[in-house]
Amino acid sequence: MAGARVQLLSLGDMPEVERQLEPAFEVHRATGAQIDAAFARHGAGIRGIATRGRDRLDAASFTRLPALEIVANFGVGYDSIDVGAAAQRGIVVTNTPDVLNDEVADFAVALLLATVRRLPQADRFVREGRWLQGNFPLGPTLRDRKVGLLGMGRIGERIARRLAAFEVPVVYHARRARPELPYRHYPDLVSMANEVDTLVAILPGGAATRNLIDAAVLSALGPRGILINVARGSVVDERALVEALRTGTILAAGLDVFADEPRVPLELLELDNVVLAPHVGSATHHTRGLMGKLLVDNLRSWFAGRGPVTPVPETPWKRPG
Ligand code: 8YV
Repeated sequence: MAGARVQLLSLGDMPEVERQLEPAFEVHRATGAQIDAAFARHGAGIRGIATRGRDRLDAASFTRLPALEIVANFGVGYDSIDVGAAAQRGIVVTNTPDVLNDEVADFAVALLLATVRRLPQADRFVREGRWLQGNFPLGPTLRDRKVGLLGMGRIGERIARRLAAFEVPVVYHARRARPELPYRHYPDLVSMANEVDTLVAILPGGAATRNLIDAAVLSALGPRGILINVARGSVVDERALVEALRTGTILAAGLDVFADEPRVPLELLELDNVVLAPHVGSATHHTRGLMGKLLVDNLRSWFAGRGPVTPVPETPWKRPG
């Protein structure tokens, strides 16, 4: 009987996920400005949410969803969800760890190489016929660089391993040192930025890391400095970054993430020493397929009474009894 099916709300554009959920669940859809109306109309019956992670879910949202049991996030980062509020209400939050590690690490290295070797600029040079007038100017190299990873989680570790193949030394800053890894840990970010010329950000977003990369960090990185961000736009003070790129405080940046996606500040669009990407670190058929499957597995497992597959640490799940 269709009316008896569990009601889910899908937040964001995830047609492949919705296609997998539809046979077993009643799926409502909403994003952005439509969410308020969806809460008003279906809020009382919604027991699960599948979210792409763009729309904020906080204590106020949960108040309007009294039957909510689980929020399944499409992505490893879940900074759009107030997990403290979820934990208080007994709502389980799940994410999609591990299945995207290699994809995002590949992309981080691709963005680093594209930024150092000015690949998009070289492409524009050929397309615009400028090669006919002379050679592409010589540019910076990866050869003499030292990379400071900001974050040494599962993806950070994969990036470090890839950089070893490029014979690039790696150090890292993270809240917790990981003594089992062969890289030097810096407890202080500015101290690390003073010692490296390339910073690769791969750490969670949210209040604890907001604007961590600020004017002081960029100034410590110095005039040969390159910033690569495949984490969250919120971890960088974007105004300070624009200023640093404009004035030569640092050399260049490669950015896959922005503070107010999909809006990218005009000042960044106008700079030639920036390589931009539309948040595509995990965006391949292969990996987005695996992420979608894991999200769906979490919801199926939960509503079959088997608990979540990959709950986040803030909302751990213990089998009742
Ligand atoms: C998102 C991401 O899944 O995993 C993350 O944290 O940022 C991405 O892989 C993607 O942007 C879908 O919203």
